[in-house]
Amino acid sequence: MYLKIMPQNHQKTILIAAPGSGIGKIVTEKLVKDYFRVIGIGGKNSKEFVEILNQNDYSIDFVECDYTSESSVIEAFNEVKILTPKIDGLIIFVGGSLISKPIEDVSYSDFRKVLAVNLDSTFLMGKEGYMWMQEQGGGNILFFGSTTGLKPSKKKMPYGVAKAAVHNLTLSFAQEGAEHKIVTNAIAPGYVMTDRHIDELQNKALESGDSFEDILLKIENKNPMKQLLKPEEIYPLIKLLLTTDHIQGQVIRIDSGQILG
Ligand SMILES: NC(=O)c1ccc[n+]([C@@H]2O[C@H](COP(=O)([O-])OP(=O)(O)OC[C@H]3O[C@@H](n4cnc5c(N)ncnc54)[C@H](OP(=O)(O)O)[C@@H]3O)[C@@H](O)[C@H]2O)c1
Repeated sequence: MYLKIMPQNHQKTILIAAPGSGIGKIVTEKLVKDYFRVIGIGGKNSKEFVEILNQNDYSIDFVECDYTSESSVIEAFNEVKILTPKIDGLIIFVGGSLISKPIEDVSYSDFRKVLAVNLDSTFLMGKEGYMWMQEQGGGNILFFGSTTGLKPSKKKMPYGVAKAAVHNLTLSFAQEGAEHKIVTNAIAPGYVMTDRHIDELQNKALESGDSFEDILLKIENKNPMKQLLKPEEIYPLIKLLLTTDHIQGQVIRIDSGQILG
């Protein structure tokens, strides 16, 4: 049980897109425990998770949003502006590879869908956050890229293309935002052991007859440092990038050297 933190005690206000699953879920809890005021925007999962946190004496505001719709994103930001006069930070966790297919099987609609969830959402919310921070005299924006955007993975072509574009979006936001004191960076993780990945591996274990531990070991062994990244291990970097004035326009890879082989 944690003490309910009142808004006046909060150090900084962070707007989180997709606080309800994976890396976002763990980071949201950690930011609240670190006395940040957190406002979430997102879909059903995110809403349910924030409701659970609030039943446990947290205090997180939440606004529903369809990340890939321009009008929904603009409306959501207008609602957030009623809740807070300013945001110090914006983190966008929205994304995922969604499909795993060789190029010849990727339809145009598959391609557009993956770009919409990963790139359009980041542009739409990033732009709203950027314009707000321009008016308020600065702030920190943090996007989520991926090592797949740095080095392609087989059967993940649309995801790699979308994340490579997110990396370039980061550089443009940093380049144009610098004179407005807007700091923009991206984190490019390798494989992260989120709840979703754990579920997927458990299903794989059931289907293959291998033990969950053996499957984990096989994945660990593919990493040069023989280790897997947990969401909470990304948190110190996230906190740094939400508060830094000097790290600007970086895409920071966090993968224990995975793509170096
Ligand atoms: N986990 C990894 O191994 C890994 C590795 C490299 C990069 N990343 C990137 O890091 C970020 C967070 O990853 P994660 O694993 O924590 O993500 P996740 O939990 O799988 O998904 C994050 C959120 O994105 C939204 N989302 C996902 N698919 C969607 C769809 N088809 N339509 C609409 N919204 C969708 C959902 O938001 P709502 O719940 O609000 O609906 C979901 O909660 C993502 O950008 C991901 O690409 C992850």
